[in-house]
Amino acid sequence: MGKLYLRSFGCQMNEYDSAKIAELLGRAEGLESAERPEEADLIVFNTCSVREKAQEKVFADLGRVKHLKRARPALMIAVGGCVASQEGAGIVARAPFVDVVFGPQTLHRLPQLLERRRASGLAQVDVSFPEIEKFDHLPPARVAGASAFVSIMEGCSKYCSFCVVPYTRGEEVSRPFEDIVAEIAALAARGVKEVTLLGQNVNAWRGTIDAERADFAELLKYVCEMLHRVRYTTSHPREFTQRLIDAHRDLPQLAPHVHLPVQSGSDRILAAMKRGYTCLEYRSIARRLRQARPEISLTSDFIVGFPGESEADFEATLRLAREAAFDASFSFAYSPRPGTPAAELPGQVPVAVRLERLQRLQVQLEAQARAISEGMVGGTERVLVEGPSRKSAAELAGRTGNNRTVNFRGGPELIGRFVPVRITAARSHSLRGELNAK
Ligand code: SAM
Ligand code: F3S
Repeated sequence: MGKLYLRSFGCQMNEYDSAKIAELLGRAEGLESAERPEEADLIVFNTCSVREKAQEKVFADLGRVKHLKRARPALMIAVGGCVASQEGAGIVARAPFVDVVFGPQTLHRLPQLLERRRASGLAQVDVSFPEIEKFDHLPPARVAGASAFVSIMEGCSKYCSFCVVPYTRGEEVSRPFEDIVAEIAALAARGVKEVTLLGQNVNAWRGTIDAERADFAELLKYVCEMLHRVRYTTSHPREFTQRLIDAHRDLPQLAPHVHLPVQSGSDRILAAMKRGYTCLEYRSIARRLRQARPEISLTSDFIVGFPGESEADFEATLRLAREAAFDASFSFAYSPRPGTPAAELPGQVPVAVRLERLQRLQVQLEAQARAISEGMVGGTERVLVEGPSRKSAAELAGRTGNNRTVNFRGGPELIGRFVPVRITAARSHSLRGELNAK
């Protein structure tokens, strides 16, 4: 029995992969998790390269465990995720004490790679894209309470001009319908009430249901039949069909929350980003979604300081964010990624300007989210109870339909159940409430 120290960076796809890695290594190698790298027999970094800072962190973190390897040569160090995918053998060249490099599509091969490393004494690198093989070799998801994540597709074929994901995770590949349904049925049988369907572009999902071609809206019908609440992330405006909008009207199990990255409020910039939609098209989706489900919360991703972005372009983004009434959203300063077309564009915006715009956008987005939270005070929300609250063991924490954490008094018997909670106060990143007895 050895110990595994695993650190995950980046998006929810990576967190999902990390949970699978831990489970895989638990089964194949009998590894238990370690709190600190000093206690570990195997250290795994599941890395992210979507922005500069994330990428730099990997080598800094590797530097911090180098001395452990020197003191204990039997310690294994593995690097996975998108930095591994991009750099491949370059990781071993820069950090020769690394034993195994694996990509998002080869994580299921990790036990064999470790085995080969031990047998040969040579570092092993496998960052290939064996397509759907990954889905076939993964153990079933472990459940954290009443909520679980289920991956329905991998990769991305959109090639936005700023983004590394299509290069690091490969093209879009959908997981077969039967496998998705079997995994969700098993989760539901174990008491899971809510599932988040995961993928870089879930609405690019295509499959076969009862010998017929099916799309994401069709998949949702089947998934919703098995669960009390269903979420998905991330969707792309380009394939946000009327059928998908109608699903939000017809399927009460669909959470009233959609994360739909817009990136910019300027058509010129959207075209340069190769996003494949205009602001008008985006607003039309938002409007029809609100018609279909009036209480829906819309959140988004933004990039500011994209090459060529003028002050007027940026102000258009501020305006769109306000007019679309976005709830708690993510915003990032543009980070040129090696190998992406945008990194070569003229008109790179000075870093100071990028950061100043980011600050302005974040202040506005925070105020919008706060106003929505305050508007919820006095209302009653259907809350899925996740567990004891982080601050006090006497309190419970749960999540509202629009993805906010609510803390309230209640007994442990409520964990894993939906309960009505009256919202009594809005805090900066959570809500307070009390159980509504009725
Ligand atoms: N398809 C997913 C989505 O749309 O959210 C994943 C894309 S990426 C992992 C998540 C977000 O990171 C993007 O929506 C974008 O706002 C941001 N992002 C991606 N590349 C970036 C870059 N080069 N600089 C700054 N932000 C970036
Ligand atoms: Fe990246 Fe655009 Fe795909 S942001 S993940 S290339 S949709």
